[in-house]
Amino acid sequence: MQVAIVGATGETGRSIVDGLLKAESSFEITAIIRPSSLAKPAVQNLKARGVRVVSVDLQGPRAELVEILKPIDVVISAIHYQSLDEEITLSSAAKIVGVKRYVPCFWATVAPRGVMLLRDRKEEILDHIHRLRLPYTVIDVGWWYEITLPAIPSGRFDYALVAPQNNLLDSGDVPSALTDVRDVGVYVAKIISDPQTLNKKVFAFTETRTQNEILALVEKLTSERPEVTKIPAAELESKLAEARKAGTGINRDLGQYEYWNSWGIRGDNTPENARYLGYLIAEDLYPGVKGRSLETFVQEILDGKGAKVYSE
Ligand SMILES: NC(=O)c1ccc[n+]([C@@H]2O[C@H](COP(=O)([O-])OP(=O)(O)OC[C@H]3O[C@@H](n4cnc5c(N)ncnc54)[C@H](OP(=O)(O)O)[C@@H]3O)[C@@H](O)[C@H]2O)c1
Repeated sequence: MQVAIVGATGETGRSIVDGLLKAESSFEITAIIRPSSLAKPAVQNLKARGVRVVSVDLQGPRAELVEILKPIDVVISAIHYQSLDEEITLSSAAKIVGVKRYVPCFWATVAPRGVMLLRDRKEEILDHIHRLRLPYTVIDVGWWYEITLPAIPSGRFDYALVAPQNNLLDSGDVPSALTDVRDVGVYVAKIISDPQTLNKKVFAFTETRTQNEILALVEKLTSERPEVTKIPAAELESKLAEARKAGTGINRDLGQYEYWNSWGIRGDNTPENARYLGYLIAEDLYPGVKGRSLETFVQEILDGKGAKVYSE
């Protein structure tokens, strides 16, 4: 199967490349790289691993993109959230050449429309795909382990945490689905090879935990109690209202507060809610396919074998 990936140098994209290269089925991968990034070490690394690299500006002439997509069966987007609009061109070109499946950039927590601006923008791209009648699969993966753990007093986690989660949202008892970003590609390899997932949304996550359960797990493995700042629901609501008033689109603060509200207060990011919203659940489709556990992830960091995401 010929697979083209936009965003192959990013965190999600790299995981997808890894998952496809390791999969039982055989995938030939093309990374679509913007011209300004061609010299990046991450691109050289892709080439060294047998990935075909092509360069095109998604905002450039459509003919170039169409030519690149001609031999492709599946197009996957894991583009930066600020560049989502470029998926309009990408999916339109995919329709012209008749790709068999287009996987838009979702890769996040489950939620209905109207809760998170970023999610709504992704849904608008899906509306465009629907208008094109382009075959698609949406894949959401829950919240990454890599941005789930709190810092601990000794500082032993610090080298591996890019965004320590020491904010306890309201009761801390709301379950939310989690996945190690490095396992996303393992799920993707299964999902894009499966006719059952065509024109469907799939929720591929590894485990579901509440914040209190995560704190208890960290305490069990480290014998340290993380210090937390409690954020009651009402306080988050006023932070959200303020960030929305600023009216600058999808900015970092607003994005964070909207995610917290969705997975930490509303409880949107659960398999039950995903089923309600019409998702298939990867665990039901492929019971033998499971990412690493949160406990394994924590232990890896304690053993000094962790790594920060976005270090490239
Ligand atoms: N579930 C979670 O907890 C979680 C956490 C973080 C992100 N996400 C989601 O995951 C998705 C991907 O985010 P990420 O953090 O994995 O990505 P990332 O590491 O920020 O990488 C973004 C990728 O997009 C590429 N890109 C950006 N603008 C481009 C353009 N104009 N043309 C072509 N390529 C472009 C970048 O390529 P260059 O090398 O050219 O820069 C890079 O490969 C987003 O939808 C985000 O919302 C989910």
